[in-house]
Amino acid sequence: MQFTKVHSLKGELKIPGDKSISHRAVMFGSISQGITEVTNFLQGADCLSTIDCFRKLGIEIDISDQKIIIQGKGLHGLKAPSTTLDAGNSGTTTRLISGILAAQDFDVTLTGDASIQKRPMKRIIEPLSLMGASIESLKGNDCAPLRITGSKLNGMHYQSKVASAQVKSAILLAGLYANAPTSVTEPYISRNHSEIMLNFFGAEVSTIDTTATIQPLPALTGQKIVVPGDISSAAYFIAAGLITPNSEILLKNVGINPTRNGILRVAEVMGGNITYLNANTENGESTADILIRSSDLHGITIEGSIIPTLIDEIPIISVMAAFASGTTTIKDAAELKVKESNRIDVMVENLRAMGANITGTPDGMIIQGGFPLLGAVIDSELDHRIAMSFAIAALNATGITQILGAECVRISYPNFYNDLHSLTC
Ligand code: S3P
Repeated sequence: MQFTKVHSLKGELKIPGDKSISHRAVMFGSISQGITEVTNFLQGADCLSTIDCFRKLGIEIDISDQKIIIQGKGLHGLKAPSTTLDAGNSGTTTRLISGILAAQDFDVTLTGDASIQKRPMKRIIEPLSLMGASIESLKGNDCAPLRITGSKLNGMHYQSKVASAQVKSAILLAGLYANAPTSVTEPYISRNHSEIMLNFFGAEVSTIDTTATIQPLPALTGQKIVVPGDISSAAYFIAAGLITPNSEILLKNVGINPTRNGILRVAEVMGGNITYLNANTENGESTADILIRSSDLHGITIEGSIIPTLIDEIPIISVMAAFASGTTTIKDAAELKVKESNRIDVMVENLRAMGANITGTPDGMIIQGGFPLLGAVIDSELDHRIAMSFAIAALNATGITQILGAECVRISYPNFYNDLHSLTC
């Protein structure tokens, strides 16, 4: 797919539903008693993988344009699937469902696409095994395919080495089935959608500092969930509106949960002109409309506890940094190497190909902004966040940019290119 420079971006967008929250609504609805109705569900490939897995586990899920309806069967209502479960490209599906499957009274094999089969699963195998789970990496490389043998689980406290909501959530979900309370402490707080939504379904999850604790065997009951717009998808338009001259973009109903809103905090410190309108709270998640206007950005240092709150936005933040004056330094973000692609290497290689001054480091990158970008051929490595980041860079580069594998945006934002096109003047 090809992109060229634009002179301005103007208009209003309704950002599609949050991916993390959509996954959780399907999972928690499936193990709750009764009907769960989810509106603004993200019908991207990753969340459809979660639906496919739960259908194979015996849950009826009806999908329409407006909402999805899940016929929950309660904590002990899942059935042994007749085939392997396929999580596709989705790390969230793979890791969170493992916490549930570890406690069932049947065995399953769980796999995913080529990218998933390279992503580290030791981070969930280790804590779940400490609870009594039996999980085998079938190729012996601590990656999927995983053979999960349902087991009786013990409550425990786990000190996680990484700030990861997927690890935390897998442990909390296993804790639903354990014989005693289960808690997880992380180095910094990661996104807390599981804690918020599990409580909404009737579980008892408490959080003190960076420790989340769950009480076992709650009565979970089906709920109505309204999914906020995904700030990780809004991020491309936040950056686009800030770096493209003469631009004004209104993004409607975006989730601004403080454990996810690092992109907004960073953009403001860089000098971004951002206005919040219509603040609201739905199912414990805060939302707002966000008005973005073109701004002169300057480089900053991004490190420490803010990193987990913007981990998926670092590719687009590095694009913003290339258009900012001065140096942007990103540290403490080694997790980027184990996402859908190695996002440090892929951003450095591709931004350099466009003429940016960027250096990779073991845990991040250093970007000297202000070097004009030129069109180039960009290999997205089938990573949705890389494809979308370079589509935005290309709108502000001289010449033609071609993005290889551009269709991978179907993972989290199937309508991305149409939405982007609707803003071009
Ligand atoms: C997610 C957590 C994050 C994030 C991913 C979605 C989630 O991963 O990068 O896109 O829904 O819990 P980690 O937990 O591995 O940091």
